[in-house]
Amino acid sequence: MQIKAVAYVGLDATDPSAWLTFGVEVLGMMPARAVPGQGWPAPGQEAPASARTGIGPDGSVYLKMDERQWRVAIHPSADRNGLAYFGFELEGTIELENAIQELRDLQIPVRVGTAAEARGRAVTGIAYTQDPSGNVIELFYGQTADYNFRSPQINHDFVAGHLGVGHFNLFVKKQPECFEFYTKVLGFKLSDYFRYGEDAQLQFLRCNPRHHSIAMIELGAAHGLQHMLVELRDIDGVGRTLDRANKAGMEIVSALGRHRNDGMPSFYMRSPTGFDVEVGCQGLLLDDTWRPTEFCEGDVWGHQGLMEAVQAGAGVGS
Ligand SMILES: [Fe+2]
Repeated sequence: MQIKAVAYVGLDATDPSAWLTFGVEVLGMMPARAVPGQGWPAPGQEAPASARTGIGPDGSVYLKMDERQWRVAIHPSADRNGLAYFGFELEGTIELENAIQELRDLQIPVRVGTAAEARGRAVTGIAYTQDPSGNVIELFYGQTADYNFRSPQINHDFVAGHLGVGHFNLFVKKQPECFEFYTKVLGFKLSDYFRYGEDAQLQFLRCNPRHHSIAMIELGAAHGLQHMLVELRDIDGVGRTLDRANKAGMEIVSALGRHRNDGMPSFYMRSPTGFDVEVGCQGLLLDDTWRPTEFCEGDVWGHQGLMEAVQAGAGVGS
């Protein structure tokens, strides 16, 4: 199959409202104008109950970054903070049917979602599976568009669209099996990799021109989301976000720097759900002339604190 984008992400959080504040006031996202499952009012009728709050009846928070109805969902949990699911986008109904059949042929568990479940994500068709590390993957097509994105922050535009939400760095278990799953089953391509030990690699995988949508590393006993990137249109957007993060008292875990492989100037801060959020711009776009390479330095400059943050997240010493 060919995944087109990591189009949405779901998080579990003990305090979704903290993420709403962080997402809007620091990251510059917009509360979804209607939450999935509520439907849109006909012209002249009243707006849905959630209108413009981004908050659903169960307390879930939905944030919008571009023309998609929503991109980031944060669901209330009694005791869990972290990744709940990814939304991997397929082209259409035929591609979803084929994907389901491919998984069945490979004896990988897959469940076809109901129409109500699809509505609950504002998509047209959905199926559920998991990667070998246990991350929940929702395969879908036909996410609802709402062309009324306007960031509450001035001159603030995300680079999302057909490139998806951003990118996600995962601590995985069974990295070789995960690599096979993402590349052979889901159709991701290896963009490049960084070796940090005899048999240890940080692997960067793409599913569209964005240099990577998923990166994975097996380090210590860690499992789950290490960081999520959101990309802004320009460096001023990144700088203004850093100003807002400092003003809001967010913990900056990595100083500004520029990554060697995707060329992105960025910084990292600790999100209210524990994992880190990278904010960058000008990420490299690749085409089919690209060949995977090993690279040997993480950064062109800066990013002080980043390695320590990754190691601390993995529970290993520096
Ligand atoms: Fe990143």
